Amino acid sequence: MSTRIAAARVDEIPDPGKKLIEADDRLLLLIHLDGQFYCLDDICTHDGGTLYDGDLVDHAIRCPRHGARFDVASGAALSMPATEPTRTYPVTVENGTVYVDVD
Ligand code: FES
Repeated sequence: MSTRIAAARVDEIPDPGKKLIEADDRLLLLIHLDGQFYCLDDICTHDGGTLYDGDLVDHAIRCPRHGARFDVASGAALSMPATEPTRTYPVTVENGTVYVDVD
């Protein structure tokens, strides 16, 4: 069963921009890009690096440690050295608030 959390106000995160949110014992990365919001684990699947400090390039976030890129919408690993996707979470926006469904 999933839990819906209020992650941010829409006007709180610039576009492009990022925010770290806590959900239980996890850190999630909320991304605002081209008018859309996305949420993924703040974990690079190559070696566990945090993605928060990575650059947003071509609809992907680049891990600051060794450069792997992940699609912000699907979490797919787009370049080496990562080969596995990072997990994504459904995001909805209602009345100026960004919600994330976590399980
Ligand atoms: S930990 Fe992210 S590319 Fe190595």
